[in-house]
Parts: sequence; C-alpha cells; structure tokens
Amino acid sequence: MRKYYEAYEERYQKIHERGQLWFKNEPTPELLEWLAINKVPKDNEILEVGCGEGRDATHLAKLGYAITATDISDEAVKMCEKIAKENQLNLEVFKTDFVTSPQSNLHQFGWIYAIGTLHMLVDDADRKLFLINLFNVLKKEGKLLLVNKGDGKTEHNTDKREAYNLVDREHYSDHKNVKLVATSFCKKNWENHIKELESVGFKVLEYFNTINDIYDECMVVYLSK
Ligand SMILES: C[S@@+](CC[C@H](N)C(=O)[O-])C[C@H]1O[C@@H](n2cnc3c(N)ncnc32)[C@H](O)[C@@H]1O
Repeated sequence: MRKYYEAYEERYQKIHERGQLWFKNEPTPELLEWLAINKVPKDNEILEVGCGEGRDATHLAKLGYAITATDISDEAVKMCEKIAKENQLNLEVFKTDFVTSPQSNLHQFGWIYAIGTLHMLVDDADRKLFLINLFNVLKKEGKLLLVNKGDGKTEHNTDKREAYNLVDREHYSDHKNVKLVATSFCKKNWENHIKELESVGFKVLEYFNTINDIYDECMVVYLSK
C-alpha cells in the first residue's frame, strides 16, 4: 500500500504540471503573530517542518529571517527551491521525513514551526514519532508552533485507504474544479491533542482556536521544551 504522504506528492505534481501552485502564496497569520509575540531575532535559525511549496518559508526569508525549510515531498521541495532561487532568497530547503527518519542531518533549532503537517497524520503512532522527532530537533527552552485543522471539540480521521481517491477540488486561482487525490487528515479534540503533546515532553504554553483562510477552523499551540 502506498504511504499517505505520496498522495500529497501526486497532488503537487499534478497541480505543478498545470503551471499552478496548490497553496495560495500568502503567509500564515498565526505564524507571523507567533514570531512577533516572541520577538524572534532575524539572525536566529528557524526550522519549518512540512514547508510544502514554501509560502511561509519564502515569505520569512524575504523578511530576512534565517530559515531552513523541509518537507517529505520531492515535488514540494523542488518547487520551494525554485521559488527561492527566482527570488534570490537565502533559504535552505531539503527533503526529510519527520515520521520515519531520525533527523541525523539536522542540528537543533531554537525556533520550529509546522503548519498543517501534523493534521495529515491519521495514525497515533505516526503522530507520536513526528512529535518525538520535533522534540529532538528543538533546543532546550526552544519554542515550537503548531497550527492544525480542528475546532478542538470534535474528532475526525479520514480513512487512509481513501487518500488516493480522486475528488473534485476547486483551485483558488480560477475557481475551477481539478480532479485530485483526496490525501489524509486527522482532527483531534483539545484534551487529546494536549495529551499527545505532553506525552513526548513538550510544555504547552498557550493554545487557542482560529479561523484560517487556507485551513478554515484551526487549533494553534505554542510549545516549549
Ligand atoms: C497540508 S500540507 C502544508 C504545507 C505548508 N505547511 C503550507 O501550509 O502551505 C502538509 C505538508 O506536510 C508534508 N508532510 C507530510 N508528512 C510529512 C513528514 N512525515 N515529514 C515531513 N513533511 C511531511 C507534505 O508533503 C505536505 O507538503
């Protein structure tokens, strides 16, 4: 059986072949707020996990932040590198799997964020490995931001076997429907989300709900080690 993340790879490839990006090229407001609240200095290294096409990483690099952007998808990494090169950005991008591979090629970072990535993992065991890997690359007293789909009350898991089902998805640029693979998605309630975060050793500093232009209802968590 193919892996859940290969569905995303397929989706990126299809949409890039059409000369489009899957994500609207706008940064995540919750991320900008987190950087501002924490007064993150521009010369501090920041790691993004699951950067996709790099809408956040490239935006932050344009602002002068020192970003390392990573994703499991070759196609996403290629696109993120292309955009960085076209804009002459100083942005390091590479492929890595935050579920299965130990992050041996990564040093520890004081600031890490992952937007819409944990919510793709529907198995509790995969989510735990993902969180352990995040914990291991975070410096002591470092800060982590997670933004994922959910309202904090209801729980929902898509069936992984349906991740490759073709569904109609409207593209933001022309509002036309494109047939794309469905991918996977998990929504936790606050109690279980906090439990899984604390079980790997994170300190939960703050958590709240937002409505996000791209992911709609979101759960935002500020964490530290
Ligand atoms: C919903 S997309 C979000 C992309 C980007 N953060 C954004 O919001 O535009 C989730 C991303 O997580 C990546 N991803 C999924 N599993 C991953 C893993 N195990 N390690 C690293 N990245 C992963 C996918 O390839 C995909 O690009």
